[in-house]
Amino acid sequence: MDEYFDERMVSPTEIMGENESDNPLRPRRLEDYIGQEKVKQNLAVFIEAARYRRETLDHVLLYGPPGLGKTTLSGIIANELGVNLRITSGPAIEKPGDLAAMLTNLNEGDVLFIDEIHRISRAVEEVLYPAMEDFSIDIVTGKGQMATAYHLPLPHFTLVGATTRAGQLTAPLRDRFGVSLRLELYTPVELAKIVTRSAAILNIPIEPDGALEIASRSRGTPRIANRMLKRVRDFAQVLSDGVITLHTAQVALERLEIDELGLDSNDRRMLHAIMKFYNGGPVGLETLAAAIGEEAVTIEDVIEPYLMQIGFLSRTPRGRCITRAGCLHIGVTPPPQADAQLKFETDAE
Ligand code: ADE
Repeated sequence: MDEYFDERMVSPTEIMGENESDNPLRPRRLEDYIGQEKVKQNLAVFIEAARYRRETLDHVLLYGPPGLGKTTLSGIIANELGVNLRITSGPAIEKPGDLAAMLTNLNEGDVLFIDEIHRISRAVEEVLYPAMEDFSIDIVTGKGQMATAYHLPLPHFTLVGATTRAGQLTAPLRDRFGVSLRLELYTPVELAKIVTRSAAILNIPIEPDGALEIASRSRGTPRIANRMLKRVRDFAQVLSDGVITLHTAQVALERLEIDELGLDSNDRRMLHAIMKFYNGGPVGLETLAAAIGEEAVTIEDVIEPYLMQIGFLSRTPRGRCITRAGCLHIGVTPPPQADAQLKFETDAE
């Protein structure tokens, strides 16, 4: 999924070199983090309470679409608690021994961040249970008659797990997180604040409506907004005087084939396919994935959340349907069921 999407301007997945923890655009304190108000308010209470009791913070699960700031939040949690942050990911922990090595190297109170935690193997997950619950691990060295079991106490730590899909975690793992927080897509106004803040850090001159234009086309995702800011700066410097105005933002994004709602040619291609091959839907996820040569998980995690948020796609028990608004956006006549769908949704409200 990443390989394909990293080529896209609107990919919410990270590109090599953008994910260093010293990325200057990442806020370091909760008060500098824009948006996700509910998450921020609750987290502030949990952090303060843990500090007050001089205890480690309970394990935290962060879930939601990619690019919304899960890694950033884990850094903020560590920073606010005054402890170290160790970063790893589910696929990077190949064997139970890899996790054991990481856990035994932690200092008291540290935050261990495991990105894509839904991708850890069963064997690794088994080690994680006692580590999370009792701060201990059992390891076996040697084989056969020479095998020896050790019970190792660990320093108390906070596990911050991040996933795009909480539903894919096993129930025992999910139950071991004391705090579970869902991140939502950002509003254009919140994203405009993020873009303005990032422009100030990077010394990019930008006008307020230039920031709002980038924000409105960033699919509710700060990572996309920050990347778009850098590309629009290129156009502003080469084509005009370097200042990002509404006009330069519009020209740049048109050249990048990102429309006024942030859809690129691939999003439009999927909407067209639902119309052309399935008369507007419903169409099953796997069938649609095959039709457009895309992986089902990519559609689910990356393409759909935003299209559903802006009301262009609906998910029904029988499959995906394009909505009336989606049809109008791509310039095709809505099929009758798109109107029926709309009526049904309005009646249900
Ligand atoms: N950069 C990326 N995400 C951010 C956020 N939520 N607030 C401030 N700056 C950010």
